Amino acid sequence: MEEARRIKRLPPYLFTIVDNLKREVRAGGVDIIDFSMGNPDLPPPPNVVERLTESMKEPAISRYSKSDGPIETKLRRTIADWYKQRFGVTLDPDTEVLPLIGSKEGIAHLALAYLNNDDLALVPSPAYPVHFNGVIMAGGILYNLPLREEEGYIPNLFSLPKETTQLTKLLILSYPHNPTTATCDLDFWEKVVHWGKGKNMIIVSDLAYSDFVYEGERAHSILEAKDAREQCIEFHTLSKSYSMAGWRIGFCVGNKKILAGLSKTKSYCDFGIFRAVQEAAIEALSGPQDYVKKIASIYKKRLDYFVDGLNKAGWPTPKPRATFYVWTRIPLKFSFHSSMEFTELLIREAGVAVSPGTGFGEYGEGYVRFAMVEPEERMKIALERIGKVLSL
Ligand SMILES: Cc1ncc(COP(=O)(O)O)c(C=O)c1O
Repeated sequence: MEEARRIKRLPPYLFTIVDNLKREVRAGGVDIIDFSMGNPDLPPPPNVVERLTESMKEPAISRYSKSDGPIETKLRRTIADWYKQRFGVTLDPDTEVLPLIGSKEGIAHLALAYLNNDDLALVPSPAYPVHFNGVIMAGGILYNLPLREEEGYIPNLFSLPKETTQLTKLLILSYPHNPTTATCDLDFWEKVVHWGKGKNMIIVSDLAYSDFVYEGERAHSILEAKDAREQCIEFHTLSKSYSMAGWRIGFCVGNKKILAGLSKTKSYCDFGIFRAVQEAAIEALSGPQDYVKKIASIYKKRLDYFVDGLNKAGWPTPKPRATFYVWTRIPLKFSFHSSMEFTELLIREAGVAVSPGTGFGEYGEGYVRFAMVEPEERMKIALERIGKVLSL
């Protein structure tokens, strides 16, 4: 049976190829040290796990979620309170907050909700894959905005020709940025919002890594920018800050009309988030936040240790300012390899799995990404193995 043209147009999902390679090499008895996915290895906060366990005993917990139910209402209020505290932005919990089954789900459905065949979506390259794959699946026109190291991985948005911006319905930005680890300041968001004013486009910020910014910086919400609420929305997730990746919960905030369209689309596809997970999310966002600081410092320590190790092994790598990723150019000696070939070489020769830069789009070519989701003792072994491969 042939897949739909929309689906056939999707680029090969390189992460599946990496998974298959890992499986094959593991089957040969190699202990793969896996930095390929941003899949947190740290346990979630104990109070959140306890809340989930307790809520499982509530009689109605397994019923379908309803947006006007008591848990659902409380979750939206908790998100609005968290937002106010975190970014100083006041949100109406009933119209400007929409919980999601993870932000990936929300981003994919947003494209489905808003893109027609002749609508263009501006998406940086490299990017988190659903930013561009969502556009392709929805049947929209994908327009890559190249992100270059020498430009701080900030897209050259403001010089786009009018013919392009006139067709644009969606712009998806994300800082701190996966995979490049770049950050932006509030001034950039102010400029983006000012530029978008009067243009018929939805401006999206994906703020998955708001809690992982180092060296005294802090992440800014696009909604802090003047008039942002007129056409901007922002995605958040509990997957990273609270290590709840498999629990599937995130949320979207911002312009109420845009959120209403996303909510409508979702209502035809899903029944919301498991209510016990919603209770746990309320606990995560309203309980003590020292967990978040603690894991941010663990990731920072891992980043420093690993980047120092790569540099010592002769692989020049800059220190990330944010996220828990290391984004680095393929070492010169190996730069005749594509990022997929080099990834395969690392898996086969070093037993170390990474993500190929092209998994994040064509402008990721020449780079690989390490996710700091292995403990230091395993990083040490990985660095030794990588060192051996580099000296071959
Ligand atoms: C930039 C970015 N956005 C969204 C997500 C997906 O998060 P969720 O688990 O909430 O779907 C990720 C996950 O790696 C990400 O890196």
